[in-house]
Amino acid sequence: MTFVVTDNCIKCKYTDCVAVCPVDAFFEGPNFLVIDPVICIDCDLCAPECPADAIFQDTELAPDQIEFIEINADLSQKWPNITEVIPAPDDADKWNGVENKLPLLER
Ligand code: SF4
Ligand code: F3S
Repeated sequence: MTFVVTDNCIKCKYTDCVAVCPVDAFFEGPNFLVIDPVICIDCDLCAPECPADAIFQDTELAPDQIEFIEINADLSQKWPNITEVIPAPDDADKWNGVENKLPLLER
């Protein structure tokens, strides 16, 4: 099992999650973060830290978020590791809660 970053992280990218991950499992794209499912040890420290409530265990995903399992597995092999909190985008709060942001994901 693994934890998965889902739709509501897109264009929010608060990065609070990376500060608590004991195994540095997060990888950073232009407007989204993903978790490497091989590195993640299922500790559940990150999910409560996300202001956008964007992180879930893979077995707890809503049906319309299941595609993010593959997105996390794929993009974590292509993007650089991120281990420290960085400032969120200026308009992050505006995007928090907007549904179906996947078309806006920059890869
Ligand atoms: Fe890291 Fe734990 Fe979150 Fe997995 S569940 S990404 S190990 S903080
Ligand atoms: Fe994204 Fe939440 Fe982390 S918005 S960057 S999963 S704190």
